[in-house]
Amino acid sequence: MALLHSSLCSCCAFFLLAFTFLQAPRVYGRETENRYVVGVRSLLPSSVCSSPRDSNPSMMKVVHRHGPCSPLSPSRKPADVKLLNQDQDRVNWLQRQISIASNGTRASLAATIPANSGGSIGTGNYVVKVGFGNPKNDFMVIFDTGSDITWIQCKPCSGRNCYPQQDPLFDPSQSSTYSNISCSSPSCKKLDSRNCSADSRCRYKIEYGDKSQSKGFFGSDTLTLTPSDVLPNFLFGCGDQSKGLFGRAAGLLGLGRRPVSLVSQSSPKYGGVFSYCIPSTSSKPGYLTLGSRRLSNVQFTPLRTFSNLPSFYFLDLVAIKVGGKQLPISSKVFSTAGTVLDSGTVISRLPPSAYAALQSAFRKQMTRYKMVPALSILDTCYNFTGYDTVSVPTVALMFGGGTTLNVDFSGILYVPNVSQACLAFAPNGDAKDFGIIGNAQQKRFNVVYDIANRRIGFGANGCN
Ligand SMILES: *[C@@H]1O[C@H](CO)[C@@H](O)[C@H](O)[C@H]1NC(C)=O
Ligand SMILES: *[C@@H]1O[C@H](CO)[C@@H](O)[C@H](O)[C@H]1NC(C)=O
Ligand SMILES: *[C@@H]1O[C@H](CO)[C@@H](O)[C@H](O)[C@H]1NC(C)=O
Ligand SMILES: *[C@@H]1O[C@H](CO)[C@@H](O)[C@H](O)[C@H]1NC(C)=O
Ligand SMILES: *[C@@H]1O[C@H](CO)[C@@H](O)[C@H](O)[C@H]1NC(C)=O
Repeated sequence: MALLHSSLCSCCAFFLLAFTFLQAPRVYGRETENRYVVGVRSLLPSSVCSSPRDSNPSMMKVVHRHGPCSPLSPSRKPADVKLLNQDQDRVNWLQRQISIASNGTRASLAATIPANSGGSIGTGNYVVKVGFGNPKNDFMVIFDTGSDITWIQCKPCSGRNCYPQQDPLFDPSQSSTYSNISCSSPSCKKLDSRNCSADSRCRYKIEYGDKSQSKGFFGSDTLTLTPSDVLPNFLFGCGDQSKGLFGRAAGLLGLGRRPVSLVSQSSPKYGGVFSYCIPSTSSKPGYLTLGSRRLSNVQFTPLRTFSNLPSFYFLDLVAIKVGGKQLPISSKVFSTAGTVLDSGTVISRLPPSAYAALQSAFRKQMTRYKMVPALSILDTCYNFTGYDTVSVPTVALMFGGGTTLNVDFSGILYVPNVSQACLAFAPNGDAKDFGIIGNAQQKRFNVVYDIANRRIGFGANGCN
Protein backbone atom coordinates (compact mmCIF):
# COMPACT_ATOMS: atom_id res chain seq x y z
CA MET A 1 0.00 0.00 0.00
CA ALA A 2 2.80 2.38 0.93
CA LEU A 3 4.56 1.54 -2.29
CA LEU A 4 1.46 2.21 -4.34
CA HIS A 5 0.95 5.46 -2.50
CA SER A 6 4.43 6.74 -3.18
CA SER A 7 4.34 5.77 -6.84
CA LEU A 8 0.99 7.49 -7.16
CA CYS A 9 2.49 10.59 -5.68
CA SER A 10 5.51 10.64 -7.93
CA CYS A 11 3.04 10.21 -10.71
CA CYS A 12 1.16 13.32 -9.50
CA ALA A 13 4.45 15.12 -9.20
CA PHE A 14 5.29 14.16 -12.74
CA PHE A 15 2.00 15.52 -14.02
CA LEU A 16 2.38 18.66 -11.98
CA LEU A 17 5.85 19.17 -13.38
CA ALA A 18 4.72 18.42 -16.92
CA PHE A 19 1.84 20.82 -16.42
CA THR A 20 4.17 23.56 -15.19
CA PHE A 21 6.39 23.13 -18.24
CA LEU A 22 3.40 23.13 -20.56
CA GLN A 23 2.10 26.27 -18.92
CA ALA A 24 5.32 28.21 -19.09
CA PRO A 25 7.70 26.74 -21.60
CA ARG A 26 9.12 29.97 -23.01
CA VAL A 27 7.91 32.60 -20.62
CA TYR A 28 10.58 34.48 -18.84
CA GLY A 29 10.42 36.97 -16.09
CA ARG A 30 12.51 39.45 -14.20
CA GLU A 31 14.08 38.49 -10.89
CA THR A 32 14.60 42.13 -10.11
CA GLU A 33 14.16 45.17 -12.28
CA ASN A 34 17.53 44.51 -13.81
CA ARG A 35 17.87 40.80 -14.51
CA TYR A 36 16.08 38.31 -16.73
CA VAL A 37 15.34 34.88 -15.27
CA VAL A 38 14.93 32.25 -17.93
CA GLY A 39 14.32 28.51 -18.00
CA VAL A 40 17.37 26.84 -19.51
CA ARG A 41 15.14 24.56 -21.58
CA SER A 42 13.74 27.60 -23.34
CA LEU A 43 17.17 28.80 -24.51
CA LEU A 44 17.27 26.44 -27.45
CA PRO A 45 14.87 26.89 -30.36
CA SER A 46 12.25 24.26 -30.97
CA SER A 47 12.72 22.12 -34.07
CA VAL A 48 9.08 22.72 -34.97
CA CYS A 49 7.74 25.96 -36.41
CA SER A 50 4.98 27.49 -34.33
CA SER A 51 3.21 29.93 -36.53
CA PRO A 52 0.10 31.75 -35.35
CA ARG A 53 -2.93 30.51 -37.29
CA ASP A 54 -4.36 33.98 -37.60
CA SER A 55 -1.26 35.61 -39.06
CA ASN A 56 -2.07 39.01 -40.50
CA PRO A 57 -2.42 38.72 -44.28
CA SER A 58 -1.38 42.34 -44.76
CA MET A 59 2.15 41.57 -43.56
CA MET A 60 4.90 39.47 -45.07
CA LYS A 61 6.09 36.66 -42.85
CA VAL A 62 9.77 36.94 -41.93
CA VAL A 63 11.52 33.65 -41.16
CA HIS A 64 15.09 32.70 -40.39
CA ARG A 65 16.81 31.09 -43.36
CA HIS A 66 17.99 28.06 -41.41
CA GLY A 67 15.11 27.61 -38.95
CA PRO A 68 12.15 25.21 -39.03
CA CYS A 69 9.83 27.97 -40.35
CA SER A 70 11.93 28.36 -43.51
CA PRO A 71 10.66 26.53 -46.58
CA LEU A 72 14.21 26.52 -47.92
CA SER A 73 15.80 23.09 -47.77
CA PRO A 74 18.13 21.68 -46.72
CA SER A 75 17.19 23.44 -43.54
CA ARG A 76 20.12 21.98 -41.62
CA LYS A 77 21.83 24.92 -40.00
CA PRO A 78 25.55 25.43 -40.68
CA ALA A 79 27.84 25.23 -37.63
CA ASP A 80 27.63 28.27 -35.36
CA VAL A 81 31.34 29.00 -35.76
CA LYS A 82 30.85 29.15 -39.52
CA LEU A 83 27.78 31.40 -39.19
CA LEU A 84 29.65 33.78 -36.89
CA ASN A 85 32.67 33.87 -39.19
CA GLN A 86 30.36 34.71 -42.08
CA ASP A 87 28.82 37.43 -39.94
CA GLN A 88 32.29 38.93 -39.67
CA ASP A 89 32.60 38.78 -43.48
CA ARG A 90 29.43 40.85 -43.75
CA VAL A 91 30.75 43.37 -41.24
CA ASN A 92 34.02 43.62 -43.17
CA TRP A 93 32.01 44.25 -46.36
CA LEU A 94 29.97 47.01 -44.67
CA GLN A 95 33.05 48.61 -43.10
CA ARG A 96 34.91 48.47 -46.38
CA GLN A 97 32.10 50.19 -48.31
CA ILE A 98 31.92 52.86 -45.66
CA SER A 99 35.66 53.24 -45.69
CA ILE A 100 35.79 53.57 -49.47
CA ALA A 101 32.99 56.16 -49.40
CA SER A 102 34.89 58.16 -46.81
CA ASN A 103 37.98 58.25 -49.01
CA GLY A 104 39.90 55.89 -46.78
CA THR A 105 39.79 58.24 -43.82
CA ARG A 106 37.57 56.07 -41.67
CA ALA A 107 39.24 52.77 -41.23
CA SER A 108 42.10 50.62 -42.27
CA LEU A 109 39.85 47.82 -43.46
CA ALA A 110 39.76 48.73 -47.14
CA ALA A 111 43.46 48.10 -47.36
CA THR A 112 43.73 45.12 -45.08
CA ILE A 113 40.91 42.79 -46.13
CA PRO A 114 42.23 40.04 -48.38
CA ALA A 115 40.80 39.96 -51.88
CA ASN A 116 38.89 36.72 -51.41
CA SER A 117 37.71 36.82 -47.86
CA GLY A 118 34.49 35.05 -48.80
CA GLY A 119 30.97 35.97 -49.71
CA SER A 120 29.77 38.78 -47.56
CA ILE A 121 26.01 38.84 -47.75
CA GLY A 122 26.08 36.94 -44.48
CA THR A 123 24.09 33.91 -43.55
CA GLY A 124 22.35 35.32 -40.53
CA ASN A 125 19.75 36.67 -42.86
CA TYR A 126 16.02 36.38 -42.77
CA VAL A 127 13.83 35.58 -45.74
CA VAL A 128 10.35 36.60 -46.93
CA LYS A 129 8.06 35.34 -49.68
CA VAL A 130 7.25 37.73 -52.53
CA GLY A 131 5.44 37.28 -55.84
CA PHE A 132 6.67 38.40 -59.27
CA GLY A 133 4.80 38.63 -62.56
CA ASN A 134 1.36 37.93 -63.90
CA PRO A 135 0.38 35.20 -63.26
CA LYS A 136 2.19 35.58 -59.97
CA ASN A 137 5.03 33.25 -58.98
CA ASP A 138 6.22 33.19 -55.39
CA PHE A 139 9.87 33.32 -54.38
CA MET A 140 11.72 33.21 -51.08
CA VAL A 141 14.14 36.15 -50.98
CA ILE A 142 16.57 37.54 -48.43
CA PHE A 143 15.62 41.00 -47.19
CA ASP A 144 18.46 43.41 -46.70
CA THR A 145 18.53 46.99 -45.43
CA GLY A 146 22.20 47.23 -46.49
CA SER A 147 21.61 47.13 -50.25
CA ASP A 148 19.18 48.59 -52.76
CA ILE A 149 18.43 46.65 -55.91
CA THR A 150 15.90 43.82 -55.70
CA TRP A 151 16.77 40.86 -57.91
CA ILE A 152 15.80 37.26 -58.53
CA GLN A 153 17.44 34.66 -60.75
CA CYS A 154 15.63 34.41 -64.09
CA LYS A 155 15.45 32.17 -67.12
CA PRO A 156 17.46 31.71 -69.22
CA CYS A 157 20.11 30.97 -66.68
CA SER A 158 21.77 27.66 -66.60
CA GLY A 159 24.68 25.63 -65.43
CA ARG A 160 27.23 27.44 -63.35
CA ASN A 161 25.91 30.91 -64.15
CA CYS A 162 23.37 30.61 -61.37
CA TYR A 163 23.43 28.95 -57.98
CA PRO A 164 20.79 26.31 -57.15
CA GLN A 165 17.60 27.69 -55.61
CA GLN A 166 14.48 26.19 -54.05
CA ASP A 167 11.81 27.82 -56.22
CA PRO A 168 11.72 27.30 -60.00
CA LEU A 169 13.44 30.13 -61.91
CA PHE A 170 11.29 33.10 -62.88
CA ASP A 171 10.58 33.11 -66.60
CA PRO A 172 9.92 36.67 -67.78
CA SER A 173 8.61 35.44 -71.14
CA GLN A 174 5.71 33.78 -69.29
CA SER A 175 4.61 36.96 -67.54
CA SER A 176 2.18 39.24 -69.37
CA THR A 177 3.36 42.28 -67.41
CA TYR A 178 7.15 41.97 -67.74
CA SER A 179 8.95 44.79 -69.59
CA ASN A 180 12.52 45.17 -70.74
CA ILE A 181 14.30 48.38 -69.76
CA SER A 182 16.39 49.99 -72.47
CA CYS A 183 19.80 51.49 -71.85
CA SER A 184 18.57 54.95 -72.70
CA SER A 185 15.64 54.82 -70.27
CA PRO A 186 15.77 57.05 -67.18
CA SER A 187 15.08 53.91 -65.12
CA CYS A 188 18.40 52.43 -66.23
CA LYS A 189 20.17 55.58 -65.07
CA LYS A 190 18.99 54.89 -61.51
CA LEU A 191 21.57 52.10 -61.34
CA ASP A 192 25.07 52.89 -60.12
CA SER A 193 26.61 49.95 -61.84
CA ARG A 194 25.02 49.47 -65.27
CA ASN A 195 25.92 48.17 -68.66
CA CYS A 196 24.35 47.79 -72.05
CA SER A 197 23.67 44.50 -73.84
CA ALA A 198 24.23 44.09 -77.61
CA ASP A 199 20.48 44.67 -78.12
CA SER A 200 20.55 47.84 -76.01
CA ARG A 201 18.91 46.41 -72.93
CA CYS A 202 19.91 47.73 -69.51
CA ARG A 203 22.05 45.40 -67.40
CA TYR A 204 22.66 45.66 -63.64
CA LYS A 205 25.49 44.37 -61.53
CA ILE A 206 25.72 44.17 -57.73
CA GLU A 207 28.63 42.84 -55.72
CA TYR A 208 28.18 42.13 -52.03
CA GLY A 209 31.71 40.95 -51.57
CA ASP A 210 34.29 39.06 -53.43
CA LYS A 211 32.28 35.92 -53.84
CA SER A 212 28.66 37.07 -53.71
CA GLN A 213 27.30 38.90 -56.71
CA SER A 214 24.40 39.11 -59.12
CA LYS A 215 24.30 40.35 -62.73
CA GLY A 216 21.58 40.34 -65.32
CA PHE A 217 18.93 42.32 -67.17
CA PHE A 218 17.12 45.18 -65.52
CA GLY A 219 13.39 44.86 -66.06
CA SER A 220 10.03 45.70 -64.59
CA ASP A 221 7.05 43.63 -63.56
CA THR A 222 4.29 43.45 -60.98
CA LEU A 223 5.58 42.80 -57.47
CA THR A 224 3.05 41.25 -55.09
CA LEU A 225 4.07 41.51 -51.44
CA THR A 226 0.70 40.63 -49.90
CA PRO A 227 -2.80 40.42 -51.37
CA SER A 228 -3.24 44.11 -50.62
CA ASP A 229 0.29 45.27 -51.44
CA VAL A 230 0.72 45.01 -55.20
CA LEU A 231 3.22 47.23 -56.99
CA PRO A 232 2.88 47.40 -60.79
CA ASN A 233 5.96 48.20 -62.91
CA PHE A 234 8.42 47.47 -60.14
CA LEU A 235 12.04 47.76 -61.32
CA PHE A 236 14.18 44.75 -60.45
CA GLY A 237 17.09 42.69 -61.63
CA CYS A 238 16.47 39.53 -63.62
CA GLY A 239 19.67 37.69 -62.81
CA ASP A 240 21.46 35.52 -65.33
CA GLN A 241 24.84 35.38 -63.59
CA SER A 242 24.83 35.02 -59.81
CA LYS A 243 26.97 33.31 -57.28
CA GLY A 244 27.50 33.43 -53.58
CA LEU A 245 26.07 32.69 -50.20
CA PHE A 246 22.41 33.15 -50.93
CA GLY A 247 21.59 29.66 -49.75
CA ARG A 248 18.65 28.39 -51.74
CA ALA A 249 16.88 31.77 -51.73
CA ALA A 250 15.76 33.02 -55.15
CA GLY A 251 17.24 36.47 -54.72
CA LEU A 252 17.15 39.54 -52.56
CA LEU A 253 14.77 42.32 -51.55
CA GLY A 254 16.71 45.60 -51.31
CA LEU A 255 15.53 47.89 -48.50
CA GLY A 256 18.28 50.52 -48.65
CA ARG A 257 17.66 54.22 -49.33
CA ARG A 258 18.75 54.65 -52.97
CA PRO A 259 16.21 55.44 -55.74
CA VAL A 260 16.13 51.86 -56.98
CA SER A 261 15.26 50.28 -53.61
CA LEU A 262 11.83 48.87 -52.78
CA VAL A 263 11.33 51.62 -50.20
CA SER A 264 12.11 54.39 -52.68
CA GLN A 265 10.11 52.88 -55.55
CA SER A 266 7.07 52.38 -53.34
CA SER A 267 7.43 55.72 -51.59
CA PRO A 268 4.50 57.40 -53.46
CA LYS A 269 2.23 54.69 -52.05
CA TYR A 270 3.78 54.05 -48.63
CA GLY A 271 5.42 57.35 -47.78
CA GLY A 272 8.91 55.88 -47.45
CA VAL A 273 8.05 53.88 -44.34
CA PHE A 274 8.56 50.20 -43.60
CA SER A 275 8.91 48.12 -40.49
CA TYR A 276 9.87 44.61 -39.53
CA CYS A 277 10.08 42.38 -36.51
CA ILE A 278 12.79 39.73 -36.12
CA PRO A 279 11.33 36.85 -34.04
CA SER A 280 12.91 35.78 -30.74
CA THR A 281 13.63 32.31 -32.09
CA SER A 282 14.03 30.68 -35.48
CA SER A 283 11.00 28.51 -34.69
CA LYS A 284 8.65 31.50 -34.89
CA PRO A 285 7.88 33.94 -37.69
CA GLY A 286 8.18 37.72 -37.58
CA TYR A 287 6.93 40.22 -40.15
CA LEU A 288 7.86 42.83 -42.71
CA THR A 289 5.40 45.49 -43.79
CA LEU A 290 5.45 48.61 -45.93
CA GLY A 291 3.78 51.84 -44.85
CA SER A 292 2.85 53.23 -41.50
CA ARG A 293 0.53 50.47 -40.32
CA ARG A 294 2.45 49.93 -37.11
CA LEU A 295 3.39 53.18 -35.45
CA SER A 296 1.68 52.94 -32.07
CA ASN A 297 3.85 52.26 -29.01
CA VAL A 298 7.00 53.21 -30.94
CA GLN A 299 9.84 55.40 -29.63
CA PHE A 300 11.78 57.31 -32.27
CA THR A 301 15.37 58.44 -32.65
CA PRO A 302 16.72 60.62 -35.48
CA LEU A 303 17.78 58.87 -38.69
CA ARG A 304 21.24 60.03 -39.76
CA THR A 305 22.24 59.87 -43.39
CA PHE A 306 25.43 60.61 -45.30
CA SER A 307 25.26 61.57 -48.96
CA ASN A 308 28.33 59.52 -49.80
CA LEU A 309 26.74 56.46 -48.14
CA PRO A 310 23.32 56.53 -49.77
CA SER A 311 22.19 53.02 -48.88
CA PHE A 312 22.69 52.89 -45.15
CA TYR A 313 20.67 53.87 -42.09
CA PHE A 314 22.63 55.50 -39.30
CA LEU A 315 21.46 56.43 -35.83
CA ASP A 316 23.02 57.92 -32.72
CA LEU A 317 23.93 55.34 -30.10
CA VAL A 318 24.78 57.44 -27.03
CA ALA A 319 25.05 55.07 -24.06
CA ILE A 320 24.73 51.47 -22.88
CA LYS A 321 23.29 50.13 -19.63
CA VAL A 322 24.01 46.72 -18.10
CA GLY A 323 21.84 45.57 -15.20
CA GLY A 324 20.24 49.02 -15.13
CA LYS A 325 23.54 50.89 -14.66
CA GLN A 326 24.96 53.13 -17.33
CA LEU A 327 28.47 52.13 -18.42
CA PRO A 328 31.26 54.69 -18.07
CA ILE A 329 31.79 55.30 -21.78
CA SER A 330 32.42 58.80 -23.11
CA SER A 331 29.73 59.71 -25.68
CA LYS A 332 32.63 60.73 -27.95
CA VAL A 333 33.44 57.04 -28.33
CA PHE A 334 30.11 56.53 -30.07
CA SER A 335 30.01 59.80 -31.99
CA THR A 336 33.52 59.30 -33.38
CA ALA A 337 32.51 56.00 -34.87
CA GLY A 338 28.84 56.44 -35.74
CA THR A 339 26.37 53.55 -35.75
CA VAL A 340 24.61 51.72 -38.58
CA LEU A 341 21.31 49.87 -38.17
CA ASP A 342 21.52 46.70 -40.26
CA SER A 343 19.10 43.83 -40.86
CA GLY A 344 21.74 41.46 -42.24
CA THR A 345 24.40 41.58 -39.52
CA VAL A 346 23.63 39.19 -36.66
CA ILE A 347 25.85 40.34 -33.79
CA SER A 348 26.07 44.04 -32.89
CA ARG A 349 29.54 45.56 -33.16
CA LEU A 350 30.74 48.22 -30.75
CA PRO A 351 33.78 50.51 -30.66
CA PRO A 352 36.54 48.59 -28.83
CA SER A 353 36.42 50.65 -25.62
CA ALA A 354 32.61 50.49 -25.46
CA TYR A 355 32.73 46.73 -25.87
CA ALA A 356 35.38 46.44 -23.16
CA ALA A 357 33.12 48.29 -20.70
CA LEU A 358 30.12 46.12 -21.65
CA GLN A 359 32.11 42.90 -21.37
CA SER A 360 33.52 43.84 -17.98
CA ALA A 361 30.18 44.88 -16.47
CA PHE A 362 28.42 41.82 -17.87
CA ARG A 363 31.08 39.42 -16.57
CA LYS A 364 30.91 41.01 -13.10
CA GLN A 365 27.20 40.22 -12.96
CA MET A 366 27.64 36.65 -14.22
CA THR A 367 30.29 35.37 -11.79
CA ARG A 368 27.95 32.65 -10.50
CA TYR A 369 28.34 30.80 -13.84
CA LYS A 370 31.37 28.98 -15.17
CA MET A 371 33.02 30.61 -18.17
CA VAL A 372 33.92 28.49 -21.19
CA PRO A 373 36.15 29.29 -24.21
CA ALA A 374 35.22 31.84 -26.86
CA LEU A 375 33.00 30.98 -29.82
CA SER A 376 34.39 32.70 -32.94
CA ILE A 377 33.91 36.46 -32.41
CA LEU A 378 32.10 35.96 -29.06
CA ASP A 379 34.48 36.02 -26.11
CA THR A 380 32.16 35.91 -23.09
CA CYS A 381 30.58 32.46 -22.88
CA TYR A 382 29.04 30.44 -20.04
CA ASN A 383 28.25 26.82 -19.29
CA PHE A 384 24.63 26.55 -18.08
CA THR A 385 24.61 22.74 -17.88
CA GLY A 386 22.90 21.60 -14.68
CA TYR A 387 20.83 24.77 -14.13
CA ASP A 388 17.04 24.84 -14.42
CA THR A 389 16.92 28.60 -14.74
CA VAL A 390 19.57 31.23 -15.31
CA SER A 391 19.60 34.87 -14.32
CA VAL A 392 21.20 37.34 -16.71
CA PRO A 393 21.61 41.12 -16.38
CA THR A 394 19.53 43.29 -18.72
CA VAL A 395 21.26 45.26 -21.48
CA ALA A 396 19.86 48.55 -22.79
CA LEU A 397 21.02 50.57 -25.80
CA MET A 398 20.28 54.27 -25.51
CA PHE A 399 19.83 56.43 -28.58
CA GLY A 400 19.59 60.13 -29.33
CA GLY A 401 16.24 61.69 -28.50
CA GLY A 402 15.91 59.69 -25.28
CA THR A 403 14.95 56.44 -26.97
CA THR A 404 15.97 53.27 -25.14
CA LEU A 405 16.07 49.80 -26.63
CA ASN A 406 15.81 47.33 -23.76
CA VAL A 407 17.38 44.38 -25.54
CA ASP A 408 15.10 41.36 -25.38
CA PHE A 409 16.49 38.37 -23.54
CA SER A 410 16.82 36.57 -26.89
CA GLY A 411 19.20 39.33 -27.99
CA ILE A 412 21.55 39.24 -25.00
CA LEU A 413 22.90 35.72 -25.40
CA TYR A 414 23.80 33.71 -28.48
CA VAL A 415 23.15 30.10 -27.48
CA PRO A 416 24.39 27.26 -29.73
CA ASN A 417 23.81 24.89 -26.80
CA VAL A 418 23.37 24.93 -23.06
CA SER A 419 27.08 24.40 -22.40
CA GLN A 420 28.09 27.43 -24.45
CA ALA A 421 25.90 30.52 -24.12
CA CYS A 422 27.71 33.69 -25.21
CA LEU A 423 27.19 37.42 -24.82
CA ALA A 424 25.88 38.41 -28.27
CA PHE A 425 28.04 41.51 -28.81
CA ALA A 426 31.51 41.91 -30.35
CA PRO A 427 34.10 44.66 -30.61
CA ASN A 428 35.25 46.38 -33.81
CA GLY A 429 38.94 46.14 -34.62
CA ASP A 430 39.40 49.90 -34.86
CA ALA A 431 37.93 52.77 -32.82
CA LYS A 432 37.07 54.57 -36.08
CA ASP A 433 35.01 51.69 -37.52
CA PHE A 434 31.26 52.18 -37.46
CA GLY A 435 29.27 50.48 -34.74
CA ILE A 436 26.51 48.21 -36.03
CA ILE A 437 23.17 47.33 -34.44
CA GLY A 438 22.70 43.75 -35.61
CA ASN A 439 19.52 41.73 -35.96
CA ALA A 440 20.11 39.72 -32.74
CA GLN A 441 19.64 42.88 -30.68
CA GLN A 442 16.61 43.94 -32.75
CA LYS A 443 14.72 40.74 -31.91
CA ARG A 444 11.05 41.19 -30.96
CA PHE A 445 11.09 44.93 -31.64
CA ASN A 446 8.89 46.49 -34.26
CA VAL A 447 11.73 48.36 -36.01
CA VAL A 448 10.34 51.28 -38.00
CA TYR A 449 12.27 52.98 -40.80
CA ASP A 450 10.53 56.29 -41.44
CA ILE A 451 12.69 57.87 -44.12
CA ALA A 452 10.34 60.72 -44.99
CA ASN A 453 10.34 61.95 -41.40
CA ARG A 454 14.01 61.07 -40.92
CA ARG A 455 13.51 58.85 -37.90
CA ILE A 456 14.00 55.27 -36.76
CA GLY A 457 11.59 53.74 -34.26
CA PHE A 458 11.59 50.83 -31.85
CA GLY A 459 8.36 49.37 -30.48
CA ALA A 460 8.62 46.67 -27.81
CA ASN A 461 6.76 43.36 -28.18
CA GLY A 462 6.43 43.68 -31.94
CA CYS A 463 6.36 39.90 -32.38
CA ASN A 464 7.16 36.73 -30.46
C1 LIG B 1 35.18 61.93 -50.01
O1 LIG B 1 35.43 62.61 -51.24
C2 LIG B 1 34.26 63.15 -51.85
C3 LIG B 1 34.64 63.73 -53.21
O2 LIG B 1 35.88 64.38 -53.14
C4 LIG B 1 33.64 64.19 -50.93
O3 LIG B 1 32.46 64.73 -51.50
C5 LIG B 1 33.31 63.54 -49.61
O4 LIG B 1 32.79 64.48 -48.70
C6 LIG B 1 34.54 62.87 -49.00
N1 LIG B 1 34.12 62.14 -47.82
C7 LIG B 1 34.74 62.28 -46.65
C8 LIG B 1 34.15 61.54 -45.53
O5 LIG B 1 35.73 62.95 -46.51
C1 LIG C 1 12.84 41.54 -73.99
O1 LIG C 1 13.98 41.40 -74.83
C2 LIG C 1 14.20 40.09 -75.28
C3 LIG C 1 15.50 40.08 -76.09
O2 LIG C 1 15.47 41.05 -77.07
C4 LIG C 1 13.02 39.61 -76.10
O3 LIG C 1 13.20 38.27 -76.51
C5 LIG C 1 11.75 39.72 -75.26
O4 LIG C 1 10.61 39.39 -76.04
C6 LIG C 1 11.59 41.11 -74.72
N1 LIG C 1 10.46 41.12 -73.81
C7 LIG C 1 9.48 42.00 -73.89
C8 LIG C 1 8.37 41.83 -72.93
O5 LIG C 1 9.48 42.89 -74.70
C1 LIG D 1 29.49 45.06 -70.02
O1 LIG D 1 29.04 43.85 -70.60
C2 LIG D 1 29.98 43.26 -71.49
C3 LIG D 1 29.29 42.09 -72.18
O2 LIG D 1 28.67 41.26 -71.21
C4 LIG D 1 31.23 42.86 -70.71
O3 LIG D 1 32.17 42.31 -71.55
C5 LIG D 1 31.80 44.13 -70.05
O4 LIG D 1 32.88 43.77 -69.23
C6 LIG D 1 30.73 44.79 -69.19
N1 LIG D 1 31.24 46.05 -68.66
C7 LIG D 1 31.11 46.39 -67.39
C8 LIG D 1 31.66 47.72 -67.02
O5 LIG D 1 30.58 45.67 -66.57
C1 LIG E 1 29.67 22.09 -18.76
O1 LIG E 1 29.39 21.60 -17.49
C2 LIG E 1 29.11 20.20 -17.47
C3 LIG E 1 28.65 19.85 -16.07
O2 LIG E 1 29.45 20.47 -15.12
C4 LIG E 1 30.33 19.43 -17.93
O3 LIG E 1 30.06 18.07 -17.93
C5 LIG E 1 30.70 19.90 -19.33
O4 LIG E 1 31.88 19.28 -19.77
C6 LIG E 1 30.88 21.40 -19.38
N1 LIG E 1 31.02 21.83 -20.76
C7 LIG E 1 31.97 22.67 -21.17
C8 LIG E 1 31.97 23.01 -22.62
O5 LIG E 1 32.80 23.14 -20.41
C1 LIG F 1 28.16 23.41 -28.08
O1 LIG F 1 28.43 24.28 -29.17
C2 LIG F 1 29.80 24.52 -29.39
C3 LIG F 1 29.90 25.53 -30.51
O2 LIG F 1 29.08 25.23 -31.58
C4 LIG F 1 30.51 23.21 -29.70
O3 LIG F 1 31.89 23.46 -29.84
C5 LIG F 1 30.29 22.22 -28.57
O4 LIG F 1 30.84 20.98 -28.92
C6 LIG F 1 28.79 22.06 -28.31
N1 LIG F 1 28.61 21.21 -27.15
C7 LIG F 1 27.64 20.32 -27.09
C8 LIG F 1 27.57 19.56 -25.81
O5 LIG F 1 26.87 20.11 -27.99
